[in-house]
Amino acid sequence: MTEAAAAPVIAIDGPSGSGKGTLAERLAERLGWHLLDSGALYRIVACEALDRGVAVDDAAALGALGRGLDIRFDDATVLVDGRDRTRDIRTEAVSAAASGVAALQPVRDAVLDLQRAQRRPPGLVADGRDMGTVVFPDAPLKVFLDAGLEERADRRHRQLLERGERVDRDDVLAALAERDDRDRNRDVAPLRPAADALIIDSSRLSADDVLAHVLAAARKAGLC
Ligand code: C5P
Repeated sequence: MTEAAAAPVIAIDGPSGSGKGTLAERLAERLGWHLLDSGALYRIVACEALDRGVAVDDAAALGALGRGLDIRFDDATVLVDGRDRTRDIRTEAVSAAASGVAALQPVRDAVLDLQRAQRRPPGLVADGRDMGTVVFPDAPLKVFLDAGLEERADRRHRQLLERGERVDRDDVLAALAERDDRDRNRDVAPLRPAADALIIDSSRLSADDVLAHVLAAARKAGLC
């Protein structure tokens, strides 16, 4: 059996706050597949760089930093060099630094093999910005999940409040718009739907609706 048949990938790409993370988690659980949160990798590099005083625009140093980290995902826990970094990588400061770090080719090269190594039977749900275009171009199902900026800012704001981070909603919207712009307009692996992606606008859909839609597409593609 080919790797693609033994370990198919469902690629889920889209901007921050589109509901990708929730969809990917629920889909992986429903199908009993592995889950890759690729954004966590860029967050980890950014978080370690901030902590260690590595300049967030020093491409070579950041690439070396990324290659040297021992990164493990243990269910919902993110371990970096043996330290639990689960919460540290989710702050707004790290979000802002991560989108800058992710625009640098040496950093993307450093995490590419790590991402592809997550592809294991019975399958992988991969969440990110370039899952369908760069990392898993042969994925049999590619979803591009989008939503309006205002809706995404509200979701992200609620998420941060739930985590105890007190932030102003308008600041969240401005930061989100800036990150999106950088992700969409960078030279390497820009955020865009793959030519064969199923595009879903989740602005007026519940998480259940989105899941049902993608499960139907997975069934149609013979994945479940
Ligand atoms: O998805 P999340 O918000 O955790 O990702 C953090 C940052 O990592 C994004 O703003 C984006 O710049 C970057 N990223 C990326 N490619 C991916 C996943 C995330 O460039 N596949």
